[in-house]
Formats: sequence, structure tokens, C-alpha cells
Amino acid sequence: MERPAWAPPGIDISVPSVSRIYDYYLGGSHNFEVDRQAARRAMEFMPGLPKIMQANRAFMRRAVRYAVGQGVTQFLDIGSGIPTFGNVHEIARAASPEARVVYVDHDPVAVAHSRAVLAGDDRADIVAADLRKPQEILAAPEVGRLLDLSRPVALLLVAVLHFLEDADDPYAAVAGLRDALAPGSLLVLTHASYEGIPLTEEVAAGTVGVYRDIRNPLVMRSGAEITRFFDGFELVEPGVVAMPNWRPDGASGAADGEAADGEAAEDPYAFSGFGGVGRKA
Ligand SMILES: C[S@@+](CC[C@H](N)C(=O)[O-])C[C@H]1O[C@@H](n2cnc3c(N)ncnc32)[C@H](O)[C@@H]1O
Repeated sequence: MERPAWAPPGIDISVPSVSRIYDYYLGGSHNFEVDRQAARRAMEFMPGLPKIMQANRAFMRRAVRYAVGQGVTQFLDIGSGIPTFGNVHEIARAASPEARVVYVDHDPVAVAHSRAVLAGDDRADIVAADLRKPQEILAAPEVGRLLDLSRPVALLLVAVLHFLEDADDPYAAVAGLRDALAPGSLLVLTHASYEGIPLTEEVAAGTVGVYRDIRNPLVMRSGAEITRFFDGFELVEPGVVAMPNWRPDGASGAADGEAADGEAAEDPYAFSGFGGVGRKA
């Protein structure tokens, strides 16, 4: 089986990974045939999956620019994934050169590739850690070195909470992070849902089954359940909405080399799931 130089030693390349499947959907090159097969199987049920991913990235870029516009230039991006076009540190620095970013992921390929991309960067780093253990993230030396938690931070939980099962207590994980953040900090979140998907729930469940088969269950939550993640935050207008509807700004995505927000927004799949931003009082 192929094992390219960028694959860190010790990873099992016969098992698909969430981050490499996502990389494939976004047109990246850090994925294996097993990942592509799983992605194609998921797309048999939900052919518009890449449109959802593009809408997710476009939302993230707008939210990062919004944060910088609010004077928040420190970012903690958990479940950051394999670096692709328009990473958080690139978007944030285009808006504010002093922006600092700590990325966190538990996937070895995401961590190794982030480390390579960030080599020599003294204002951005990557931590190998698990969202289910927020105290370990907060105690990471990279967080202490790069982020001043006495000042507002933008906490990004973008397309990651739906990989935490209820038994993992995702609400406690978010609360643990929230309690460590200064007032004025922002929570930037997107989450998969059956709400908004232009398919019946039975058909969409086929995609959920693909993720279950690779032992990374995708947990669809309702809009109300997703809104609960913002407990302790005040929702910024327009609230928790379909991703293209969160402060759309026309062609902003095009500047970052990805599909323009307007383009993704034409596809009904882009309106699946939810995104929102909250501010800690
Ligand atoms: C769909 S990707 C999203 C990447 C990026 N946030 C974005 O929206 O473009 C989900 C990422 O979350 C990571 N992830 C899943 N569960 C995690 C956990 N418990 N702790 C840390 N990272 C996790 C995966 O490895 C993957 O890289």
C-alpha cells in the first residue's frame, strides 16, 4: 500500500480517517485510497457533501474576520484538521498581522502536516490533543506561550463537535473551555444536523453509517441542541443559522482561493447544518 513521505510513522493507513476524508472533499492531497473510498461511499447517499464542507470553510473565514473586526486576534482552533487553502492563521493575519493561533487536533496526519506548515512560525503552533480533555488543551505549553487567556480569545469548534458522542459529554467539554476564557471571548461553532439537508433523514442516515463504520460516528444534532453549546455566551446576530446565512459577504471567499461564498450558497446542500458565533459576557 502507498505510504508517502508525509505520512507519520505508526499510523494505520488501512483505516480511513475523518481529517483525511475531509481533506479529500476539499480537494486536498493528504488522503489515501481508503479515505477516498469512504468519502465516495458517503457521497452515494449525500452527493452534495463537498458543498457542505465549502460552506463550512466559507463560514469559518467570515467568522475569523468578524473576530478580528471585534478586536479579537488570538485564536484557539480545536479540531483544526489538515491545513488547506485559507487556514485560520492566514485569514486572521491578512486582517491583523499580530494574530496568534494555536491549532489542536487528535489526528496524527493533521498534526504532522500542521507542524510542517507552521515550522519557523513564532505566532502559530499545533497541539496534539483531544477535545474530550479540555483541561489538557488548556495546560498545553503552546497555549501558555502563544495565548494570553486574560484577554479575549476566539475559540473555534468548527465541524468537530459532531464527532463527540453524547457519552463523551460534549457540553461539559465546551463549558470547560468557556470557563477558562476571558469576557469578550468568542465561540465560533458549526455542527452537522438533519435539519436543512435536502434529502430525507433515511437517505442522509446512510452517510452517518459510513462514519459509524470507520469508528468515528457522526452525531447529527437538532438546531436546539446545537444552540445549547452557546450556554454562557450571548449569540451574535443573526444567531445559530444555516452557514451561508451567517453574515454573508458576497465574494469574500474568492480572495482566499476557494469557492466564493455566493457560489456555495446557491447549492441547497450548503444550507445543511448550522453555524453561529457567541460572545462571553
Ligand atoms: C471535518 S474536520 C474540520 C476541520 C476544520 N475545523 C474545518 O472546519 O475546516 C474535523 C477535524 O476534527 C478532528 N477531531 C475529531 N474529533 C476530535 C477530538 N475529539 N479532538 C480533537 N480533534 C478532533 C478530526 O481529526 C478532524 O481533523
